[in-house]
Amino acid sequence: MVRPVTARPVAARVGVFFATALLSAAGLACSVGKGVPPPSGGGAVASANADATAAGLAILAAGGNAADAAVATALALAVVHPEAGNLGGGGFAVGRFDGEPFALDFREVAPAAATATMFLGSDGAPVPERSLVGPLAAGVPGSPRGLWELHRRFGRLPWPRVVAPAVRLAREGFRLSEREATALARERALLARFPETAAVWLEGGVPPAAGRVIRLPRLAALLAAYAAVGPDAVVTGEAALAIERTSRALGGVLTAADLAAYRPVWREPVRFAAFGWQVASMPLPSSGGIILGQSCGVLERAGWARWPVGSAERIHLLAETFRRAFADRVLLGDPATTLATERELLDPRWLARRAAEIRAQQATPSAQVRAWDPQAVAERPETTHLSVVDADGNAVALTTTLNGSFGCGVLVPELEILLNNEMDDFTTAFGTANLYGLVQGEANAVGPGKRMLSSMAPTVAWRGEEVLALGAPGGSRIPTATAQVLLAVVVDGVSLEEAVARPRVHHQWLPDELFCEPDACRGAAAELAAWGHRLAETGKVGEVHAVRRGTGGYAEAVADPRGPGSAGVSPAGTARRP
Ligand code: DON
Repeated sequence: MVRPVTARPVAARVGVFFATALLSAAGLACSVGKGVPPPSGGGAVASANADATAAGLAILAAGGNAADAAVATALALAVVHPEAGNLGGGGFAVGRFDGEPFALDFREVAPAAATATMFLGSDGAPVPERSLVGPLAAGVPGSPRGLWELHRRFGRLPWPRVVAPAVRLAREGFRLSEREATALARERALLARFPETAAVWLEGGVPPAAGRVIRLPRLAALLAAYAAVGPDAVVTGEAALAIERTSRALGGVLTAADLAAYRPVWREPVRFAAFGWQVASMPLPSSGGIILGQSCGVLERAGWARWPVGSAERIHLLAETFRRAFADRVLLGDPATTLATERELLDPRWLARRAAEIRAQQATPSAQVRAWDPQAVAERPETTHLSVVDADGNAVALTTTLNGSFGCGVLVPELEILLNNEMDDFTTAFGTANLYGLVQGEANAVGPGKRMLSSMAPTVAWRGEEVLALGAPGGSRIPTATAQVLLAVVVDGVSLEEAVARPRVHHQWLPDELFCEPDACRGAAAELAAWGHRLAETGKVGEVHAVRRGTGGYAEAVADPRGPGSAGVSPAGTARRP
């Protein structure tokens, strides 16, 4: 089910077929409103699911722009990809409109009643499951207000139209994808712990098979209300009380007041230049953009581009760079409590120092890699990602998540939405690794209203007329996966299809291991081991969904062959290679 849609006419036709079918089914084909110009060519969408990509393409074909299509795709994912798509979670969007980059933070926050010790038992020892399963694991959802805010600022089509494809999918039904059926079977034990969740997703205790038509009438009603009145339909009134009731009944602390108080935040994106391209990515409370910026900055200084693809030298430099970026990550947290800032960690002097520390043909043990400190520079103290580009070259990269698959497992029965388990992204117990093996710092301690540190890295990059939007799920592997795809494009100049498909590696400081996808280190394993790297084979490093628009209306969309994602260009005939 690999769908790398390059700009070949046949692929473009697939995209438009989806778009047209969905458009007419949603009653959108003849719609006019909010100054909608006639549809123009060259847009592209890539996401984790074919129905969701079709929703985004339909919105582009109806004259919507990249923001409209990103919101429509994200909301469709909330229906057809419940493992990660959501209204009960949060995320980030980074993009570029009319040449101006932006970053929107709709990350969850800790409820007002959260405390630094809430994930410790009475003996002070960590109770690991508490931050992953059940309602104490849930942060205050950011998606309902976040997606609305993205559309409010940049959207072109009326809001109800953008929500319409998701309403239709929930109301009329959709065929369960292979991916989702597999995930439901895999997470059966989690889902079975909560009867209301099981009643929807494990009918009779059995996970539904792929291809089964699923209808979600209560979610459809919620989405219809969201379409009619906006986020207040989800985060205030009866809906908010329903979320509070579910949480309380299972021992959680999330309240309707938390939901009403939540606000997304527009932030200055992390900006840097890399190999002749301009890049914008997500700032704190995500570490993603900083890790990406540090990685590109160090690799450029270390002469990474001169080594051949797949060589031991290239992989070594990637590992050493990622190791150091993740060592600095331990200082990061919510912007209000972080112990280091983007300005400090992307300071050219610090990047030069990090590049100089890397030894040729010799791994530095992680135990010897110290995080940045003010004295360091002598002069001075199953997440899901979608990418969209429109005919005007506007781009949105949006990553949204419940954290673990199906979040904390708790479904709010009145609304048919799952709650996240994002609280596990905090430092829940010092010295203990989280779900992604990350050992985190004091700056990321739990506190009421705080945003938990993320690794998500929705990113846009541009050079002249060319625009690229990309990102991935994969926990701590997100910034390293995103970096390797970006580097393949900006350094090696390969097609997006090849950039996404290339085998990848990952290092995150702790554990001190160089993770290699099956083919990534094959030709270099002996050398890398001799240089002191501890190699570990891993299934996959992220799942990148990327789009690109080039000169003359050329558009390309690629869903990662590592997963069953879906990509398309819209409309047919406009996409061609330059
Ligand atoms: O924000 C973060 O970094 C994590 N909650 C992301 C989770 C994720 O990527 C799950 N998907 N594989």
